[in-house]
This record gives sequence, structure tokens and C-alpha cells, in this order.
Amino acid sequence: MTASSARSYPYQQPDLPVAQRIADLLGRMTLEEKIDQLHQSSIGDTNPNNLAQRTEEFRATDGSFIMGGPPTVLATRNAFQKRAMEASRLGIPAVFGSDVIHGYRAITPLPLAQACSWNPALVQRGCAMAAEEAKAHGIDWTFAPMVDHCVDARWGRIAETFGESPYAASVYSAASVRGFQGENFGGPGSVAACLKHYVGYGASEGGRDYVYTEISSQTLWEMHLPPFEAGVRAGARTVMSAFNDLNGTPTSANPYTLTEILRKRWGLTGPVVSDWAAVAQLINQGFAADEAEATEKALKAGVDIDMADGLYRKCDVALVASGRLPLTLIDDAVRRVLRLKFELGIFEHPYTETSALSAAAPNPAQLALAEELAARSLVLLKNDGVLPFVASLSQVERVAPNALKGISDQPSALGAMRSTCRDKTVRRIALIGPLAVNSAALLGCWCQQGQAAETPSIADALKERLPSGIALRVEAGCSLAGAPTDDFSLAIAAAQEADLVILCVGEDGLMSGENASRSTLRLAGRQEELVQAIAATGRPVVLVIVSGRPLELHAFEGKMAAIIALWAGGSRAAAALADVLLGRRNPSGRLAVTWPRTVGQIPLYHNMRPRARLGDEGAYRDIATTPLYEFAHGLSYTTFSYSPIRLDQTEVSETGKITAEVTVTNTGAREGVETVFWFIRDPAASITRPLKDLKYFEQTSLAPGASRVFRFEIEPQRDLSFPDGDGRRILEPGEIILMTGDRRASFLVVR
Ligand code: NOJ
Repeated sequence: MTASSARSYPYQQPDLPVAQRIADLLGRMTLEEKIDQLHQSSIGDTNPNNLAQRTEEFRATDGSFIMGGPPTVLATRNAFQKRAMEASRLGIPAVFGSDVIHGYRAITPLPLAQACSWNPALVQRGCAMAAEEAKAHGIDWTFAPMVDHCVDARWGRIAETFGESPYAASVYSAASVRGFQGENFGGPGSVAACLKHYVGYGASEGGRDYVYTEISSQTLWEMHLPPFEAGVRAGARTVMSAFNDLNGTPTSANPYTLTEILRKRWGLTGPVVSDWAAVAQLINQGFAADEAEATEKALKAGVDIDMADGLYRKCDVALVASGRLPLTLIDDAVRRVLRLKFELGIFEHPYTETSALSAAAPNPAQLALAEELAARSLVLLKNDGVLPFVASLSQVERVAPNALKGISDQPSALGAMRSTCRDKTVRRIALIGPLAVNSAALLGCWCQQGQAAETPSIADALKERLPSGIALRVEAGCSLAGAPTDDFSLAIAAAQEADLVILCVGEDGLMSGENASRSTLRLAGRQEELVQAIAATGRPVVLVIVSGRPLELHAFEGKMAAIIALWAGGSRAAAALADVLLGRRNPSGRLAVTWPRTVGQIPLYHNMRPRARLGDEGAYRDIATTPLYEFAHGLSYTTFSYSPIRLDQTEVSETGKITAEVTVTNTGAREGVETVFWFIRDPAASITRPLKDLKYFEQTSLAPGASRVFRFEIEPQRDLSFPDGDGRRILEPGEIILMTGDRRASFLVVR
């Protein structure tokens, strides 16, 4: 009799406390069965014809699986699970993990793009939507969010980060965990989150992937650990150890980060899974002589589950027998895996039933959320006034009701719109560039079940939305990679006959993400030549950048009339873009990452520490020291003004509170969303502090002429202290400078 055919054992009784069920089950398991729980297999490709045979390739006792992206995900889960439940002695269900990073079938923008929305509530809803869809397909566990800190756009995985502010990444980390896991962990629409890649992976030397990272212990605590701590505190059930060697001790065998910090100080109760073959790679990194030593070091440091390389399964029995690995270590790791499974509810509900969500293409509600996120994530980097463009006075009248919503003096605002329109009526548009017609690129890396065929390209969206009377000519101009057959002539001809050019350049999905480092941020192939050739026509050019990272625009930025970072904005990126171009939406995205002028400026980030010499001493001699676009830069179709900062006191004690306020007014002619960023600078401290450090942000929509008071309630311990090299918080008396918009104020912290 297999265990699943009768509910006789205590571990099979849902009404018993989880700890009791774990203890009962653990007591029944053989050493081999325990070790199998610590093993994770990758399923790879399945199809309806090979499914039965594929399940036989794995053990019925395998603890967890990585689900790839086959169209038969749900059937695959159920077939593999049936084997776990029915062909194993104890009927322990397997857990199915997958990289659900930015959407499942309805694809939301890349995380770096989402971070530019400064709207954690929306990001949380995006994660909840992805979780619901993934769960309906049989996924229990997502390998997300990625909360690595990175200031080097050469590293392809910057696309998966939430940008360069540890504070912002912490806010997004917690929001993502709440979105993926939901309020009721294991309930409908809830999948387990996995904070990755723990830790320091984003400090890759030279932007290369999988390499050594050198991070001072203080910087580790200041920049890299906070988003992980925020995610653990928000309830993330699991963490993934990383590939990088951290200061000589690889992070998949690092007792300080994995056990001392993660378990002892932060109290993570769920399992740590290694990244793909990271245990075996300890040998390549020169940290283990052989597979047995790699296994021993990883397990002892705190890696519970071994992803993909099978080393635990291969080595653990002998290591326990020889006394190199205590059995209690294995038991502790297995307990954590079993706890995850019990809390996910998969002992009671091992299978996934077909539902509306598992069968269909994305529904309108999902697409609407993806579109909202795409619109909020795109960043208007430059605009000389060419945007939004309108076709004719009749179009102005048509969009007016929306654009004038909330405006008190509607007649004069309408008058302003009419006269702008007379100046820039557009009748012929040339849509140029290899990204104009490329749907797949909009989905970006890690796009799961996202389908290019279901994703409108920029050309599709413009054709659908352009008012009648505007002619659209579409010419790719060149390929992305650069081919000898690239021929700009049709694109140049299209530009010459147009009133406005929309030029779409950048990257496809595979050019950023894992294993996608680049030594240059210049446009790939002959795209830069194309941009120069189109600029030479003298027509106004709106440059649209599709990418997973900031790209180098230095050589031609001055020639562009407007520039939009669309990123890989997901399933509805093109629709969101078209609405922004046409003025149906007012852009509000602000950069979550500093945009350098050239690759040689890297690293360049807002929270750098001050230089020894002031002015231009020490600056580059061949280029400005400033970035092309600062962190938090982003334009709107309206304007905002900031009042002076008001402080309720001039001094605050270490345990007190001080409140700062600023009144923000929409001084333009249309409604717009403004994000208020509060930065601090501590000008003299026992450990040098950043020039500018983001501490809080808040966002609101303001009608023209409307004002709102934004408040930052500063708690010195939380907002003004900083960590030392072992994570102890230091708060010192002295001056603090506060900055928001173009305003500054200062106050004193006193004992
Ligand atoms: C390797 C990647 O680094 C990681 O992010 C991902 O979750 C795993 N592979 C599983 O696909």
C-alpha cells in the first residue's frame, strides 16, 4: 500500500500542527529519502507524447522540480506529481518552481522598468497577477523577486534588479513578496517567493557574469543586504544563494551570510536553494577540491536544496556515513523543505485542476494591468516640446475631455492645446528602426509563457490608435545584430517625407538578463549609424529605446527632439507607448538607475561617496562627470513646483521624530502624477556617507493648479542611522541635510 491511499499517519492529517506533522514524517524517512528532498531536478522539455516516459526519468522521491516553459506545464505538474504521490513509499508531494519574474502569460515590464514607476502597490498587483496565473498552471514557487544591487549596466542582469537605491529595492522587495505570496500563504493565487541572488551577485567585476565580487563588509550591509532583509521581514519563504565568490568565500558556501545573517539574525525559517549548479561550481571557483567537499561546504554553510547538479544526492550518504556531515544537519534542512510543502498546502492539494486561467490567453483585466504598469514604467527622458503630438484640431477636441479632466480653467487650457496643435500638426509619420516591428523584444528576458504573437508591436499599436488622416510608413532600416544587407535608403526616404519620425532602437530580450554581459552600451549592429542618418534628414525625431538597461546615447542625444525609455515593457508596452505619444496618457516614470553618458563612466550612481577634492579636480578630462540623466529623472507633460521645505523643529533627539513637509503644485496645463523623493546627506560621520541617499518616496496625481502637502516623518534610528561592517546601526549627532525636488533644508540630531 502506498501512503497516499490511506490517511492513517499523523503527517497526513491536516488538522495536526505542522511541527508535529514534520516530526512524524521525518521519523519515517530513510536517509536516502531525506536527501532526495534536498535535491532539485530540472524537468526540461515535455510534450503530450513524451510525458509518461519523461516522468520515469526522475525519482518519485525527488523533492522539487524546476519547470521550464513547455506549453504543457499543468499536465507536466500533474503527471510528475502523480508519480510522487503514488509511486513513492511515503507519498511526499513534490514542489514545482519556475522563474516567474515579470508576469506569466500576461507580461509586465522588466523589474528595472517597474522600479521606474515608483508605484509599489502597482508592482505588488503585477506580482499577484503573475502568481495567480502561474499557480493556475501548477507552479507553487517562483524564483523571484531578484533584489540584487547593481550599478553597472554592462551586467545583463541589471534588467532584473529594482535599480540602484537599496531603499527603493527594499520597498519593491517587500511589495513583490506580498504580491507573490498573498495574504493567505498557500491559498488561491499564492506562490512561495524566493529572494535572489543572495548576496552581492550584482557587484560583478567589469559587469561580467558569474565572477568574483569584492565588496567591503560595510558596503555589503549598506547596499546589498537591505532588500533581502526587507523581503525576509515581509515573509518571503525561501532564498536563493548566488553564484558569486564574495571576498573569497562563495555565496553558496558562506556561513556568515547564510547562517549567521539569514537564519540567526533575520530568522528565515524556510529553505535556501542554491542557484543552478552553484554547489558544483564551488570546484570551478577553487573553493572545493571535489564534489564531496563542495557538498559538505554548501550544506554546512546553510544551502538546503541543491539545484540541478545532483551533488547532494551523489555525496550525502557517504558524507554522513564517514561522519563528515552530521545527520542533524540533513534533518534540519529536510524539516525546512517539509515545512514549505505543508504550508503550501500541497499535501492536501497535490494536483492542479484546469481552470479558466490555465486554459486561456491573457484576459482583458490582466492586459489592462500590464498596460498600466507599462505606461507607468516608461520614462520620458527628453522632450523639446514635440510630444505629445497631435494630428489635427479635431483630434484636440476629441482628446480634450480626458486631457482637461480636473482642470479648473478649462477654456484657457483648451485654447493652449489648440494653439500648440497649430504649431505642430503631424500628417505623416515615419516609424523607423528594428524595434518598430519586433513584438518579442518588448517581452524582454525571462518572459515565461509570454507570446510574441499575442503582443502588439509598436507599429501595430500605432496603426490601431493613430487618428484617421495621419499616414504611417514603417521601415526597419536595419537589423538588430547588424547584417551586410542592412540598407538605410528606404528608412531615410520615409524620414524625408515625414513630419515626424519615431525611431525605435535598442535590444531584444536575449541581450539582457542572465549571461548577457556587454562590454559596451552602444547600440548594437548598425543602429547608431541609422540614428545618425535619420537625424541628418533634419526631421524631428522621437527616439524610443527598447532595452533592459541604460544604453549609450551620448553621440546623438543632442539631435533628438524627444527620447523615451520604453524598456522591455511587456505585453502591452506598445499600446502604452502609443497613448503617451498621442497625449492620451501623461508619462510619470522616473529613472530608478543613473543613466551614464558613456560606458567609461561606470560605475556612476546617485549614492556615491564624496570625493577628496572639490570642483572639477579629479574629474574626467574627456567628458563631463555628470550622468546623461540623473537617478529619479523623468519628464511629464505638465510641470510641478516645490515650496521650501518646512520642518517642525530644528533639532531632533535620537529617539524623537521630526517632520518635514513640502507643498507640491501642478503648474502646467494637464493632470499629472508626481513622485516626491526625499534624500538625505550626512555631511560628517564616523563612516563616510553618500552624497545623496534616498530615504522615502511618495506619489500622487495632481490636477492642474492643484497642490498637495507631502510629509516625511523622520525617525532618526530608522532613517538616519547607517550600518557598520557587521550590521550594527550607528546614529550620530550632527547636521543632516534634507533634499526634495530643488529644495534643501537642514536640521540637527542631538543626544
Ligand atoms: C539561474 C539563474 O541565475 C536564476 O536566477 C534562476 O532562478 C535559475 N537559473 C533557475 O532557472
